[in-house]
Amino acid sequence: MSKITAAITAVGGYVPEYVLTNQILETMVDTNDEWITTRTGIKERRILKEEGAGASFMAIKAAEELLEKRNLDPKEIDLVIVSTATPDMPVASTAAYVASNIGAVNAFSFDLQAACSSFLYGMSTAASYIESGRYKKVLLIGADKMSSIIDYTDRATCIIFGDGAGAVLFEPNTEGYGFQDEVLRTDGVGREFLKIDAGGSILPASEETVKNKQHFVDQDGKTVFKFAVSNMADVSEKIMVRNELSHDDVNWLVPHQANKRIIDATANRMKLDPSKVMINIHKYGNTTSATLPLLLHDYEKQLKKGDKLVFAAFGGGFTWGAIYLTWAYN
Ligand code: UT7
Repeated sequence: MSKITAAITAVGGYVPEYVLTNQILETMVDTNDEWITTRTGIKERRILKEEGAGASFMAIKAAEELLEKRNLDPKEIDLVIVSTATPDMPVASTAAYVASNIGAVNAFSFDLQAACSSFLYGMSTAASYIESGRYKKVLLIGADKMSSIIDYTDRATCIIFGDGAGAVLFEPNTEGYGFQDEVLRTDGVGREFLKIDAGGSILPASEETVKNKQHFVDQDGKTVFKFAVSNMADVSEKIMVRNELSHDDVNWLVPHQANKRIIDATANRMKLDPSKVMINIHKYGNTTSATLPLLLHDYEKQLKKGDKLVFAAFGGGFTWGAIYLTWAYN
């Protein structure tokens, strides 16, 4: 019997309609298009404006697009994982709500939180369930409403993040396509440099925490940048060496979209031609858990069966890693 691999067999995506451009940000904080473009590569991002809508709103839209494209009955789905750093609520599972709403009535579901690496770790989790033979259809969604945790008077963070969601379906493959290898890492030293101070068990919400703006993302950008550049490049190089992949062999780098300069540094270390690097940071900014599936969504038509993809991400915690996967369909 041939070994079962876990392949991505369908992709869906959703971004909100409202476009927050660099020009609009210039009217909100002391910044300018030139600074944002040269330092980050971002031109615009999408913001979810619908009253009362959270990450699940976008997760459901992305999943529904996938189901329709693939003509899949949601009752066949075994598991729904929602990777997110901005769940609808701190306690009730966002994934449970999403699964019920899309009609995945036979699935169990859970949220997965690893900051900007949430989707990457979700890929590892989804693939393991498929490879073990335990489940046949795992829907992995990355969704984040970053605008809900951003201080739009803080120019150091408000220019970076955007809202969005992307979804992929993992299924068993007997031709060897799909998930091949992973290098996943964490280092708790990073907690201090990228975090939301309040609203958790250390510092519960209070009038004081609201007044002190402690429910917003607080980032030491320079330090995070340094760790991101070296660590994302290290794991990407490591996965290439371990799988005997040269820069010619790799068809695509699928990098977390945090900063164009971090992406370039990773691609340089891999000696990859820029034409092989998926990029959409200029359109969406950093959508945290949604960056990787939104790249697949944007580039799906260019992907061919057998293409060799290296995914790489870095995020709060710190969390980071790389995954090597071969594409399973045309
Ligand atoms: O996805 C999760 C992981 N997160 C990341 O990977 C983010 C990593 N960090 C970064 O991408 C970059 O550090 C940032 C884009 C956040 C900042 O870029 P930087 O080149 O590290 O800038 P900086 O923070 O060192 O700031 C340089 C200067 C400062 O002015 P002074 O002190 O040199 O006078 C800032 O006050 O730029 C100033 N500045 C701005 N100026 C115009 C900071 N933000 C802005 C702004 N517009 N929006």
